[in-house]
Amino acid sequence: MSIKGLVTPPGDKSISHRAGLFSLLATGTCRVSNFSPCADCASTLEAVSRLGGHVERQDEEVVLHGAGGKLSSAEVDCGNSGTTMRLLIGLLAGRPGSFVLDGDDSLRRRPMARVADPLTRMGAKVFTNEGRPPVTIEGAALIGQRHELAVASAQLKSALLLAGLQASGETLVIEPHLSRDHTERLLAAMGADIAQAQGGWRVRPSAINLPDSLRVPGDVSAAAFMLVGALITPGSEVTTLGVGLNPGRVGLLTVLERMGAKLVVTEEGREPEPWGRVSAAFTPELMATEVMPEEIPLLVDEVPILALAATQAQGVTVMRSINELRIKESDRIAAIVTQLGNLSARLWEEGDDLFIEGPTELKPQGSYDSYGDHRIAMTLAMAGVLCGQSLEVADAACAGVSYPDFYRDLEALQQ
Ligand code: S3P
Repeated sequence: MSIKGLVTPPGDKSISHRAGLFSLLATGTCRVSNFSPCADCASTLEAVSRLGGHVERQDEEVVLHGAGGKLSSAEVDCGNSGTTMRLLIGLLAGRPGSFVLDGDDSLRRRPMARVADPLTRMGAKVFTNEGRPPVTIEGAALIGQRHELAVASAQLKSALLLAGLQASGETLVIEPHLSRDHTERLLAAMGADIAQAQGGWRVRPSAINLPDSLRVPGDVSAAAFMLVGALITPGSEVTTLGVGLNPGRVGLLTVLERMGAKLVVTEEGREPEPWGRVSAAFTPELMATEVMPEEIPLLVDEVPILALAATQAQGVTVMRSINELRIKESDRIAAIVTQLGNLSARLWEEGDDLFIEGPTELKPQGSYDSYGDHRIAMTLAMAGVLCGQSLEVADAACAGVSYPDFYRDLEALQQ
């Protein structure tokens, strides 16, 4: 069954998190339109309220009243959201007070030492449970540092920049490869003293102000599922509207174009970040490609759906150095290999690389598991579209972590 039509994905999850979290440090009031309705961003807004921020929901809008850094000590449930937890660790490290951050079983398995350790070098008092949540933070005076990160992680970079905003002197953060720069753009727009330096970003202590209004572009990582579904399913053609086109987020589109995908990307605006429409049409002759380590941060959340595309491409697709995928909401490498393997795809891991040989006709047999991971659930749903029958997927509802209307939107596209 093909998919056809227009779809407007929800507001970008990464930008929505940042708008909400930064309001804790900022002054002023901001009317945010198209704020992501997803469960992860609800965790962020709940955290903001518990920490002393003031959030109002007005129809489709969220109104954020800046707390100006005057926060209340609190215990915060970050739910399934690694972004909420990691950014908050950096944001709270320099605030007076005592804070405890916890989350669900998946989040409790995720590493926090990568954030806690460099913050400790800045003078922060951050305590983990053997490197994992719950995380306790006793606000302390911070001293700016130079950080050379071992991994390209926007969450880690953002945590350090938020701490740097409150530290004495300068903080410099240098990544091994570029990752999404939503934090840098939004902090600059809020008046922070932040600039590119020495191949990274440096920040100095500064006050920030909320803009009066902010329109969040659509989430390209949500759009990705519909776009790949259209590329691999005969007779399909889908246009995703109003999606964010931040260069740090569109690695999937670059790789798909290299594979010969019939994609049209049209930029339609640049505020607050580049955004526009992306159309995809069924492409029977997709070619395999090699995805290099420096490309991975630019498509880190799209590896599962790119793997599905690769099962339909001619040749062996390789994704190099995807070890970060092991510590997402699930071990996504294991999840992809097992679940797509159960559909008769030919794929395997070697060290930190993933190999997928195509094209293969996927054949549903038995039931499937999302492992409670939204991006695995949505990838399996698109595999079902390709196979012409919906798959029985355990905990398929976890898609709501990033895309609450995913199944409704998909149904509307089905012909
Ligand atoms: C995110 C960064 C990425 C990504 C996550 C959202 C962000 O994580 O996987 O879904 O909003 O900063 P890492 O920075 O840890 O790779």
